[in-house]
Amino acid sequence: MSGADNIVITGFMGTGKSTVGKIVARRLDRQFVDMDDVIESRAGATIPNIFSERGEAAFRALERDLAGELSAQSDLVIATGGGTLVRPELRAVMGVSGRLICLNASKGDIQERLRKSNNRPLAGSWERLLDQRQRDYADIEHQIDTKGKSPDAVAGEIIALAGQRLHVKTPTGPGYDIWIRRGILNHVEDILEDLAPGTHVVVATNETLAPMYGERLASRLENADMITVPDGEAHKNLDTVARIYDDLLSLGADRNTTLVALGGGVVGDTVGYAAATYMRGIRLVQIPTTLLAMVDSSVGGKVGVDLPQGKNLIGAFKQPQAVIVDTQALETLPALQWRCGMAEVIKHGLIARPSLLDPDMWSRDRVVELVRDAVQVKIEVVQQDPFERGIRAHLNLGHTFGHAIEKVTGYRVPHGEAVAIGIVKAARLSQRLGMIGVDVVDKIVSILEAIGLPIDIALDRHEWYAAMSTDKKWQSGKSRFILLTALGEATIIEGLSKDEVLAVL
Ligand SMILES: NC(=O)c1ccc[n+]([C@@H]2O[C@H](COP(=O)([O-])OP(=O)(O)OC[C@H]3O[C@@H](n4cnc5c(N)ncnc54)[C@H](O)[C@@H]3O)[C@@H](O)[C@H]2O)c1
Repeated sequence: MSGADNIVITGFMGTGKSTVGKIVARRLDRQFVDMDDVIESRAGATIPNIFSERGEAAFRALERDLAGELSAQSDLVIATGGGTLVRPELRAVMGVSGRLICLNASKGDIQERLRKSNNRPLAGSWERLLDQRQRDYADIEHQIDTKGKSPDAVAGEIIALAGQRLHVKTPTGPGYDIWIRRGILNHVEDILEDLAPGTHVVVATNETLAPMYGERLASRLENADMITVPDGEAHKNLDTVARIYDDLLSLGADRNTTLVALGGGVVGDTVGYAAATYMRGIRLVQIPTTLLAMVDSSVGGKVGVDLPQGKNLIGAFKQPQAVIVDTQALETLPALQWRCGMAEVIKHGLIARPSLLDPDMWSRDRVVELVRDAVQVKIEVVQQDPFERGIRAHLNLGHTFGHAIEKVTGYRVPHGEAVAIGIVKAARLSQRLGMIGVDVVDKIVSILEAIGLPIDIALDRHEWYAAMSTDKKWQSGKSRFILLTALGEATIIEGLSKDEVLAVL
């Protein structure tokens, strides 16, 4: 898989390359380059004038030089000239630098669009040229039909197809990449092959996801086996880890094996722990399939399992070799799991990135951007504090209240819903201490309600408080909360009195 990240948009005139390209660039915060504009400004003449005065060869030379220059850069959004990628040598050069995407439109739509932007007269033979170009473009990997779609919608499709690659620095080792792209599971063999050429791969997933994704994934890989664990938090325990060890041994897995954790946070944590400990540690790749796992649990290296006495009491830090996020998997995710993942996204927005609180960001056609922005918060935090000694605690906003809700209700309230209520309690406590105004609390409540998350629960407040005070993060019996000082800013507050806390429960 190409490591280069340019997005190269081509298509016939009137298909919207420049309009859409600008939107993509803005949404991804990248530089936009319109090749025709650059050529015109360098030549000091319009393209028709370059053709008529200096000849086609002169234009092609300018185009070739520019394609080479742009291909040596990365993170650009490029709108090519209509004929640029017809030339095999330019297609090869630009294809290596990033993902090629072709926009298509019908003759009628092209005619209509060009008439509206009346600065582009159509030559009589344009329809023949269009037919020819459509044949030339046909084998470009990504084709987007623009019919009936707004430029924003087309931009969303491009972003999903082109994907995003982020890098996480780790305290030891080279760090790892997070690949985010719709449909990337259909190309995962390229990434795994680059990471560990020719090695044995074991895909570990749960019983629900094996028929949905696991079997297809394992069948794409050469020299791969699959193991399956039971579904659910109740199985995030040492029995399941022992089962994974057994399966790995019977498959002949050794220290050259790569273990792929395919699933939500439960699979990621359990399989990750097995990878951290089997034969003193083998390679781990995380393929998260829930929103929560994509934006939170697959990144940062914390893996582990529960004990009967409490959640996540056994664990290790195990950095993955890569995290591969296929946002298409979210299309089969139950609505409740989506909402629960959104609770963590909102948490990330509240502690560091207020743009995530904008409802425009939550639409399904912007999910690559949503995951990218939300996981970016996790990356920034874990890079600063890889072993959870300080600022990483900010990720626990709402969790002290939330974990206690889960405990008191016997885990009947799903984690994400408990966190949502916890976030509201943390906001109310912050307001009570004068750290934020009531307007901020109201805004948080309305955001969570808009997502369909609960904002309160009827519990005995003394029981609730008692459950909080056994939280492993309350060091030496002193209360410890992550509270808000603004939308996008959190801080740790310790030693609050019981009465102060009871007042918001
Ligand atoms: N390691 C960390 O840093 C970290 C951070 C946060 C949470 N966690 C852990 O994550 C776990 C929760 O993870 P979760 O919320 O992903 O729950 P989960 O792993 O239990 O997944 C939820 C359910 O959705 C199903 N599912 C997953 N992907 C699907 C898909 N694409 N389509 C259809 N169904 C799908 C699963 O089979 C499961 O039944 C908890 O154990 C928590 O402790 C870990």
